[in-house]
Amino acid sequence: MGRAEAAAMIRGLALLWAVGLGGATPSPPRLRLSFQELQAWHGLRTFRLERTCCYEALLVDEERGRLFVGAENHVASLSLDNISKRPKKMAWPAPVEWREECNWAGKDIGTECMNFVKLLHAYNHTHLLACGTGAFHPTCAFVEVGHRLEEPMLRLDPRRLEDGKGKSPYDPRHRAASVLVGEELYSGVAADLMGRDFTIFRSLGQRPSLRTEPHDSRWLNEPKFVKVFWIPESENPDDDKIYFFFRELAVEAAPAMGRLTVSRVGQICRNDVGGQRSLVNKWTTFLKARLVCSVPGVEGDTHFDQLQDVFLLSPRDRRSPLLYAVFSTSSGIFQGSAVCVYSMNDVRRAFLGPFAHKEGPTHQWVSYQGRVPYPRPGMCPSKTFGTFSSTKDFPDDVIQFARNHPLMYNSVLPIGGRPLFLQVGAGYTFTQIAADRVAAADGHYDVLFIGTDVGTVLKVISVPKGSWPSSEGLLLEELHVFEDSAAVTSMQISSKRHQLYVASRSAVAQISLHRCSAHGRACAECCLSRDPYCAWDGVACTRFQPTAKRRFRRQDIRNGDPRTLCSGDSSSPTLLERKVFGVEGGSAFLECEPRSLQAHVEWTFQRAGDVAHTQVSSPLFESSSEGHQLPCPQLPSVHLRTRLSHFSEAPNDRLPQF
Ligand SMILES: *[C@@H]1O[C@H](CO)[C@@H](O)[C@H](O)[C@H]1NC(C)=O
Ligand SMILES: *[C@@H]1O[C@H](CO)[C@@H](O)[C@H](O)[C@H]1NC(C)=O
Repeated sequence: MGRAEAAAMIRGLALLWAVGLGGATPSPPRLRLSFQELQAWHGLRTFRLERTCCYEALLVDEERGRLFVGAENHVASLSLDNISKRPKKMAWPAPVEWREECNWAGKDIGTECMNFVKLLHAYNHTHLLACGTGAFHPTCAFVEVGHRLEEPMLRLDPRRLEDGKGKSPYDPRHRAASVLVGEELYSGVAADLMGRDFTIFRSLGQRPSLRTEPHDSRWLNEPKFVKVFWIPESENPDDDKIYFFFRELAVEAAPAMGRLTVSRVGQICRNDVGGQRSLVNKWTTFLKARLVCSVPGVEGDTHFDQLQDVFLLSPRDRRSPLLYAVFSTSSGIFQGSAVCVYSMNDVRRAFLGPFAHKEGPTHQWVSYQGRVPYPRPGMCPSKTFGTFSSTKDFPDDVIQFARNHPLMYNSVLPIGGRPLFLQVGAGYTFTQIAADRVAAADGHYDVLFIGTDVGTVLKVISVPKGSWPSSEGLLLEELHVFEDSAAVTSMQISSKRHQLYVASRSAVAQISLHRCSAHGRACAECCLSRDPYCAWDGVACTRFQPTAKRRFRRQDIRNGDPRTLCSGDSSSPTLLERKVFGVEGGSAFLECEPRSLQAHVEWTFQRAGDVAHTQVSSPLFESSSEGHQLPCPQLPSVHLRTRLSHFSEAPNDRLPQF
């Protein structure tokens, strides 16, 4: 048995780049809005500090109505309603001695030996926890922000600094991934100056610090941490788990395959306090599984192996959120990114499945078939599943098994078995993701906001396709939210205020989640937009309020079919017809620039006195980017019409527009 299964565990890795996504072309957005257009017409607001870079930490505080921002040597407090309005800022540079030490260690004084604020968490009713690189001397502080409703305040006591080791990275190029639960911080970070001692670390609070086994490649193998979440498992808080999302070098890949990156989800129990005789002050409940995002192919799967970001969407039940994740490729063959969606049930199933096992250095990784000790490693000590009240009571064989088997044999596959949305050869890759669940006339839809490495945000909706739970992503908008094209480093959403906050190296931007008027001025245009935030109200395309009277609201997200929705709408503009007279042998210039980049324009003509419309094929026209040049042969009068149709999979989804 062992050999066949060993092959199965690494087959996906072996075929990693065997197949490209033949024929895949990037899908165009329905609307593309430039920085200038967004600023002039759609309320884009920006924030930047003088001579300060690297806006990376964003914290939305709905109660205080503030957006807290961490950047190079600064923390800022902005209004959630308008980030440009009366911003408050606080300088937090690294002390001169630390900067000098940093410089002696060979780092650049002007770009690296600064305090890059990487992490901001709401700590209690009056304070934030902020941590920064402190010129390669990680440091944390409690920042006083006052009670809510008070005049915004931002104050740091420089005498009360905390050690930031194991909380913030040393290196400004590294990301910090952490979650604050109660008074305790769970972080995934490199805990040394050289950036080699990677750890999943619990600090602050009353309990002793806990970490992963150091320098054991089975536990962590040059990981890059992406996100950390606290997710309850039952009504009993003793079952609460912390989930870590990261990518790392695949320890299970055969050496011949070289350095292969895989994406992972890892878990630990919140009530883990380490072992008694071994794994003292180390996790006893750490497990990890591979997170797969791939496109199945005949000759093998195409893998998106570089996890970039994860967003937890938990509209109702905190125990079973959806995980929206963005991935890119590490391939030299093609550049692509994908969004995959995972359910917590599938994550938990992988941790309840077989353990990956390696008998010795010359053996391969296989599915462990022996007896698994009780209580099963990965289970939290709790009344729900067993009789142990502390991980210190776990029997020695459990601790030994846990130490040697952190990796699960089964991978976590995305919902529907494939990416929800992907872009290949688009000239950019995805870096960040945020999601919002929106109530529309025909159900709930998840709207995704995807940040890219060229400073744009893509707005994508997830619509059901075929049988449940399969969905596909439709690209609605491409928003150029920055003046330059610096990569999006962080993104936060306020569903309550309908705003999106986007950070990059050079600035922070704020944009509304919807721009209904941008879709057009006709019922059909509004309907074809398939934007769940928008509906036709009889006069204009405006914000859809699920609670308002529905009688006059027209919206069809699922099919986007304006014929049923907008027919008989007396307010919809009548077909625009324009008579064009041509001189024999001369030519006439015709123009039609549709709002939607997915629209398809058709030209027809009608001879004078004729009823029939004939579609004009290209030889009659000379197309250019501005319009069409129509030579008028022997026709004294030609009647031209255009047909505008929206691109869709349904072949009959066509709309006579004007
Ligand atoms: C935001 O605040 C700035 C500065 O006070 C102001 O100029 C701008 O008009 C405001 N924008 C909106 C949309 O309220
Ligand atoms: C919040 O935490 C800070 C730092 O530990 C402390 O000084 C402050 O008193 C706390 N505030 C409240 C309301 O507990």
